[in-house]
Amino acid sequence: MFTMRSSTDDRKRAHYAALRVVAVYEHRRYGGRSGRYVHEREVAIILNMLPAGGRILDLPSGTGRIGEALKRRGFDVLSADSSRPMLEACAQRGLAPRVQMDAFRPCFRVGSFHAIVCLRFAYHYPSIDGLLSVLRPLLRPNGHLILDCLNWSVFSWVPILKWQFAGPLYIHDAERIASAASRAGLEVLKHRSGFFLSQLLYRYLPLALVRRLERLERHAPDTWFVKTYYCLGERLATALPAA
Ligand SMILES: C[S@@+](CC[C@H](N)C(=O)[O-])C[C@H]1O[C@@H](n2cnc3c(N)ncnc32)[C@H](O)[C@@H]1O
Repeated sequence: MFTMRSSTDDRKRAHYAALRVVAVYEHRRYGGRSGRYVHEREVAIILNMLPAGGRILDLPSGTGRIGEALKRRGFDVLSADSSRPMLEACAQRGLAPRVQMDAFRPCFRVGSFHAIVCLRFAYHYPSIDGLLSVLRPLLRPNGHLILDCLNWSVFSWVPILKWQFAGPLYIHDAERIASAASRAGLEVLKHRSGFFLSQLLYRYLPLALVRRLERLERHAPDTWFVKTYYCLGERLATALPAA
């Protein structure tokens, strides 16, 4: 098991368990018309990667913004998070069932989910291996694991900004994701990069500019984007050569 626990993890969990953080979580990231647009774009990226229907683990659920969107599209969503106030925010959205747990010590049976959606989480941890090694067994055969990773971030460069998130953010590039996936018996089935700036900043831009930036993305190389969304699935056995 590659799980790395540290006092930073405890600090991060405590940060997201604070009522004042939960109260402003969505407003600060997805508030206003531009923030809402970014949230909806993110939901569309996830839906585009998932086969329709099935049992989904939204981990960590946070306030349930993703879980609610998936439930509305007919998925059977289970919300899990280490933060009780975050789960209470899920309850206010009508999301059930909910489970309070540590993502690195999941309490579900092997093969419980058709898909796991794990957003805004992997970049809080230095190693992807730990996360993949605990989540992969929870997937049914042909299940999907969706996660987003940072390719770069001003928040990881400027020490004082790190404390926005109660600790550092980690960069996991495409090569690192592909090799960690392979070690976990998974492979990258689809990926989609997007956003020129931190999503925290998009929320403050006029909507017209946010749309314009999105159109410009079509002409930009992958390395320019802050984030990449990955859909991982079981690695297919290497085909045997024909006899
Ligand atoms: C940035 S939020 C992301 C929430 C949601 N996925 C989203 O995209 O809005 C990070 C969440 O991870 C939760 N969290 C942090 N460490 C955790 C852990 N070890 N196990 C489970 N949840 C954890 C926090 O409580 C918080 O709700």
